[in-house]
Amino acid sequence: MNASKAQGSQTSVFHAVDITKIYQMGEVEVHALRGVSLELYEGEFVVLLGASGSGKSTLLNILGGLDSPTSGTVHYLDHELTASDGSQLTQYRRDNVGFVFQFYNLIPSLTARENVELITEIAASPMEAMEALDLVGLKPRADHFPAQLSGGEQQRVAIARAIAKNPRVLLCDEPTGALDVQTGVVVLQAIGQINRQLGTTTAVITHNAEIAKMADRVILLSDGHIAGIETNSTKIAAQDLRW
Ligand SMILES: Nc1ncnc2c1ncn2[C@@H]1O[C@H](COP(=O)(O)OP(=O)(O)OP(=O)(O)O)[C@@H](O)[C@H]1O
Ligand SMILES: [Mg+2]
Repeated sequence: MNASKAQGSQTSVFHAVDITKIYQMGEVEVHALRGVSLELYEGEFVVLLGASGSGKSTLLNILGGLDSPTSGTVHYLDHELTASDGSQLTQYRRDNVGFVFQFYNLIPSLTARENVELITEIAASPMEAMEALDLVGLKPRADHFPAQLSGGEQQRVAIARAIAKNPRVLLCDEPTGALDVQTGVVVLQAIGQINRQLGTTTAVITHNAEIAKMADRVILLSDGHIAGIETNSTKIAAQDLRW
């Protein structure tokens, strides 16, 4: 719990204060987040760990501007997301956030390169699609269609697509959830390398406590609360994790 000491001099990218999220399901209220406060710092690699239903995706979606909390405030740098309207949130996401989900959502009729170019065409200061594919080790597969790629390769195209617009933050919701262990390692290596090489502030949701060893800090969620934040004194590279 010495996070503030270790990270004290760094820029705070996200600052969330006492956020709650209540989903109204007819008569029933689902309390997905019950008062979460946290800070994420520039360039850090954070893992969000917790049981199914603990609120991980809800929290990540709020940070990414895909959803809004019921109460509380969220700042991205000096921009208050919780005071933003729909179009401002869309602009925020477009300019600042790369998302990676469990399922890759690639367009089947486009090649790897074209899937990435879809994003670089609309971004403000993108990198070249080939540069993004190179960062995830997929330059040689640039002209392959998704059906001609393995699951791990497809996920790496999705990561290339997410980072090609040079986002300040990369938010990944169970990026290895659909992959076998060996393939998952390659995908985690790609995410770790982007974090190190580009300095992209990175948050990864996982169920797997082993993956948490890659992180600078691990945020444990339980039943809509932060149950603990741990700082790893040494980070373990994806290829050295024990599964
Ligand atoms: N759109 C929604 N409508 C209603 N309830 C929701 C909605 N999204 C999430 N919930 C509920 O909020 C709680 C937290 O969900 P969330 O998806 O954030 O959990 P999670 O930690 O990501 O779980 P998992 O590991 O299974 O993905 C759960 O009880 C879930 O059923
Ligand atoms: Mg989830």
